[in-house]
Amino acid sequence: MASIALSHTNLALVKYWGKEDEGLRLPSAPSLSLTLEAFYTRTRLRISKENRFFLNGKEGGGKDAERVFSYLSSLLAFFRLPPSKFVVESENFVPKSSGFASSSSAFCALAAAFAEEMGLSLTKRELSIAARMGSGSACRSVFGGLVLWKEGKTGGESFAVPIKEAPSMDICALYLSLEGGEKEVSSTEGMRISRSSPFFQIWREECRKACAEIQEALKAGSFERVGEMAERNACQMHALTLSCGFSYISEKSLRALRLAQSMRKEGIPCYWTCDAGSNAAFLCRKKDMALVEGKAKEAFGSGLVCFPSGPGPGVKVKREV
Ligand code: PMV
Repeated sequence: MASIALSHTNLALVKYWGKEDEGLRLPSAPSLSLTLEAFYTRTRLRISKENRFFLNGKEGGGKDAERVFSYLSSLLAFFRLPPSKFVVESENFVPKSSGFASSSSAFCALAAAFAEEMGLSLTKRELSIAARMGSGSACRSVFGGLVLWKEGKTGGESFAVPIKEAPSMDICALYLSLEGGEKEVSSTEGMRISRSSPFFQIWREECRKACAEIQEALKAGSFERVGEMAERNACQMHALTLSCGFSYISEKSLRALRLAQSMRKEGIPCYWTCDAGSNAAFLCRKKDMALVEGKAKEAFGSGLVCFPSGPGPGVKVKREV
């Protein structure tokens, strides 16, 4: 017997960057994301005599396994369950060569498979809270489409809610694989350092405003406004890290930003965003995707690897007998 969960990654239009409580993973501000169809994690979990972790078919030890089992222990304690051991088999359908992180889908799938296997019958809100304890952004992957993560003052108040699980707005993402390699500053460390920025309070306020404004723009059906706010928020996040003396973006990430801006001058609504790494993503309409991809290949060379994606669904889980 085992439980299998399938969870899609999400791309933040308003970034989660900064924690009020590191242990509980309480964010300093709300964030807003788009769950993506193209990238997902499938996790199979069963109770066993010993802890074993497999990633993409290979048994993994080290930091990944440590994080998985320390998270599962914290869930056992949180739900007041007796100590147990697990075999966890995860497959990441996040293109390997892309260098994109998969912690949102990974920890959401893990939380969902755990809850199912332990017979917890959690509501989506409770599942979002449990996923948040593994990786902040994972709480948003519980839902499909456009999702808001409310900041909340306590662990029980900080969870994601769906804005529109099947968005009527034509909104897609094109990931650009610009550079490989491990990032030098982990997001946990980066968030910690960023709190010392003289601009940190302004950043929090800007995220609150951006979440409200994007929701208004979604209601008004203005893709351009959503894109503008998302691009500005990504620029602000990277300005914040730079104000503390470190940065994730590279010369290529900045070239991608300039490319989005020049596409807009040509009348193609395309907007830039970038997470805690140098690979950027473009937001565009589905009908413009081929054109945007062509422009990216013109700028970065025909060998550029791109990954297009439309909105994806929330987490799904089933029990295998
Ligand atoms: O969930 P974490 O701890 O991997 O942090 C994610 C941080 C960003 O991807 C940069 C932003 C976000 O909201 O997803």
